[in-house]
Amino acid sequence: MTQRIFVVDDDPLICRQLEDLFRERHYDVDTAGSASEALALLEQYEYALGVVDLKIPGTDGLSLTRQIHERWSDLDIIIITGYASIKGAVEAIRQGASDYITKPFEREEILLATEKILEKRRLLDEISYLRSQLSDRYSFANMVSRNPVMHEVFHSIESLAQNDATVLVWGESGTGKELAARAIHFQGRRKSGRFVAINCAAFPDSLLEAELFGHERGAFTGAVQDRVGKIELASGGTLFLDEVESISLPMQLKLLRVLEQREIEKLGGNRLVRVNIRVIAATNRDLEEMVGRGAMREDFYYRVNVVPLLIPPLRDRIEDVPLLVAEMLKNNPLARERGISRVSNRALQALMSYPWPGNVRELGNVIERSILKTSGPVIKEVDLPTSAAASTGAGGAVRGREYELPLKEFLKRAEKEYLAAVLRRARGGIATTAKHSMIDAATLHRKMKQHGLRREEFRRSAREAERP
Ligand SMILES: Nc1ncnc2c1ncn2[C@@H]1O[C@H](COP(=O)(O)OP(=O)(O)O)[C@@H](O)[C@H]1O
Ligand SMILES: [Mg+2]
Repeated sequence: MTQRIFVVDDDPLICRQLEDLFRERHYDVDTAGSASEALALLEQYEYALGVVDLKIPGTDGLSLTRQIHERWSDLDIIIITGYASIKGAVEAIRQGASDYITKPFEREEILLATEKILEKRRLLDEISYLRSQLSDRYSFANMVSRNPVMHEVFHSIESLAQNDATVLVWGESGTGKELAARAIHFQGRRKSGRFVAINCAAFPDSLLEAELFGHERGAFTGAVQDRVGKIELASGGTLFLDEVESISLPMQLKLLRVLEQREIEKLGGNRLVRVNIRVIAATNRDLEEMVGRGAMREDFYYRVNVVPLLIPPLRDRIEDVPLLVAEMLKNNPLARERGISRVSNRALQALMSYPWPGNVRELGNVIERSILKTSGPVIKEVDLPTSAAASTGAGGAVRGREYELPLKEFLKRAEKEYLAAVLRRARGGIATTAKHSMIDAATLHRKMKQHGLRREEFRRSAREAERP
């Protein structure tokens, strides 16, 4: 669908100039000489973007922007300001404009600003379409994703469910490792058996042994009854060893026997018990590196890491955010009760610019807190906790009262934030970043130097993603 733009300026020359420019780029364009003409157009057509002069007869561009946002809150507006009123530029962003251009402007400048906004809108439109279409294609055993790498994960889960191979799920905290482990179990032929999870980091060694292996009555002081361990409980089903990296070396040796022979000896007993278990382990650490420095037994590592399954961090599949949010709102009883079914495009934009160090779990917490704050049916940017809302580039910087800074300093910060975000997505790729930002590589290098941005930092985050 062709995107439609409106231009409001009392100077017919500027209207004409912009109209020609946008038509060349195959957008539909309407022009208005006053606020009331503009509002009449808005009643009639659906627009993707408005370009509004700061000085228009009878009112001003900012009041018009506010007025428009009261009815069409997601419409993007670019304000055109005269050179003399540059203070108005900061005010424009604060009042909800998406960007501003100072007069006199170059063709390239206005096209760059427009393209940036319209491209983002195309993505958001596609997303809200998907949101309405949320189908099985993007959902698998309680996991949703529209990311190709995640779809490979889904396929691996499907085939792993058909066998008994030991699986090591690798990924940062909160990426969905346990969810994946459960999916393998519940899609497979062991689903009638138990899925028994144990967090190995939660117990000191002595207790972990009792938890896993169980004990006979009188095995130690306080062992007044026989106790079935988790390994035995999981017989016929799946044992999930979470945070497997925290198991001590002596304990690894004991588990090795279980992994190799599928039998256990209970504490205080002398009988061997055969167990029919499948083992899935999870970690957010580089186990190979642990083997290298002697913190993990090599034989244990190879027994655990038979089939590695890597879950990418959320920042590497940021397109999953809208889908996950939709799913979370659907499943949240309070959201259902209050009829909260949507997140505004601006808030979504903020959520998609945040790096999510705590991954899907953190997103879940943010959405839960936002639901508590939201009054209407739509979660807005103001309802988000500051950590997630503060990362929206220029808009976010202004939110932090940085509009009290001199404009130059403000712009410098916004530029740094922008470049860091693009570099992160491009994993430090200079060509990709330059192309996306529509600047040449030399300019990018200069700006990175100015801002102290080093490409290695962005490369490193990519490597960590591959090897948690
Ligand atoms: N792809 C996904 N779709 C829906 N919910 C997810 C997805 N991945 C993770 N979650 C949710 O995020 C939270 C953290 O997942 P979890 O499996 O416990 O992560 P990990 O074990 O890697 O720390 C859980 O509430 C889980 O339901
Ligand atoms: Mg976990």
